[in-house]
Amino acid sequence: MRKPTLINAVAVAMAGVAAAFPGMDQTLAEIEKRQGPLSTSLIGDLAELADKDLGATGRAIKNILTGRESGQRERAESVGKDKCCIWKYIADEMHAAMAGSAERCNDFARQAVRMGFHDAGTWSKSTGKKSGADGSILLVRECDERRENKGLLEICAQMRIWFDKHKEFGIGMADLIQFGATVGTVSCPLGPRIRSFIGRKDSKEPSPKGLLPGPSASADTLISMFEDKTISPAGLAALTGAHTTSQQRNMQPDPAGDPQDSTPGVWDTLYCRETTSKDAPKRVLKLQSDMNLANDTHTRGTWRSFSSAFIGQIKWNQAYSREHVRLSLLGVYNINELTECTKALPNFMGSFDSPVKKQLQDFLRGGRDSIATDALLHRDKLPGPSGLVGISRDDMLTNFFPLRMGIIEKAGGSKGQTWASFLVARAHDRDLFMVMFHDSRATPH
Ligand code: HEM
Repeated sequence: MRKPTLINAVAVAMAGVAAAFPGMDQTLAEIEKRQGPLSTSLIGDLAELADKDLGATGRAIKNILTGRESGQRERAESVGKDKCCIWKYIADEMHAAMAGSAERCNDFARQAVRMGFHDAGTWSKSTGKKSGADGSILLVRECDERRENKGLLEICAQMRIWFDKHKEFGIGMADLIQFGATVGTVSCPLGPRIRSFIGRKDSKEPSPKGLLPGPSASADTLISMFEDKTISPAGLAALTGAHTTSQQRNMQPDPAGDPQDSTPGVWDTLYCRETTSKDAPKRVLKLQSDMNLANDTHTRGTWRSFSSAFIGQIKWNQAYSREHVRLSLLGVYNINELTECTKALPNFMGSFDSPVKKQLQDFLRGGRDSIATDALLHRDKLPGPSGLVGISRDDMLTNFFPLRMGIIEKAGGSKGQTWASFLVARAHDRDLFMVMFHDSRATPH
């Protein structure tokens, strides 16, 4: 049974929380002040339409962008036979692929969140009605050809598989990508159920280059880059919090997989604390850009306001959801015609209890040969006596085989036996392989 955490107990509206704890109102108000303002500027067609011309969804999105409605819906609802029906099928399929068996979300989920940013984030005030959340990252091979998308190859291959499978139902690529980001987020324990909208227009026009940030960018560069996308410094700090779940692989490829906090695959605020701490474990790799934001005068207050495990988490989930709705609609000029399909998302996961806690600690202190490493690098599935994982060709050759050979040899097997224990079962496409393996370890220890 799931162990309830504090956040589970209070994953409710802030009003309820404030009522439950004496003095909380004041604490929340102080945190609010420290957090700094999120943007209220309108985007897309909402900036041009009068209130009287807005439909229900357009009005709801306007309210989210201006802070009058929440950007998340904690509670699941049922899905009927409407436009969202197909998205329920897609959400279930994505969720099954994105949730690991070690109570974390896996690399598909993390890459899907990042991919949502890399498609939408190519919009800026100067690109006007072009670019943004339009699917071009996949439709014109930006994913395959642009350096900043190198860490997204597996999710790009998988998104194409999902698109081909469901396109007969009229889904669009831009929607699939942004929906993947919200399913990815809620597939991570503590990740919010971000309000999700369907109906964007796809584009096969390449987006302009140079509108996505680099890992050593200064706070000033990042702040002006995001302000040009209508995102305030507070919004930038909130969105960058997505690195709580991250495990970089390309910024420092050797060794790949080092996380950005001690709980990769979990949507918690430990990342905020560890980014500014001198005592983070050895293998927690902090991005220079994150440290710059954590220490800059414009973003430091927001960063700190999210840092606590309890109220910080609630504030951050709220702020992240609101800013993500904005991000996911950059460059969209038919917002008033969209349909809300939040109800198709999986349930919020308010607790986690990793079955490989001890191994994860060993990994974070520097060891890599562990069951936790194995899980972290390969879809976060814990290997039993035999298993099936889907991995990329590069990952298979550089990480998976050598790592498992080491483990099996340690357990007394020979190299010959080790190779024989792998069977490449099926190649989905040129990048993605399904590998069956067998080894001598029975269950996680
Ligand atoms: C502030 C500017 C940002 C910079 C400089 C930045 C940079 C990076 C870098 C270098 C990585 C590691 C990639 C790798 O080595 O494979 C990464 C990972 C990631 N980023 Fe960002 N990022 C930024 C903002 C964001 C935002 C706004 C989001 C989402 C809303 C996001 C979501 C992610 C996620 C989920 C990962 C993990 C990917 C994985 O584990 O495979 N990032 N980012």
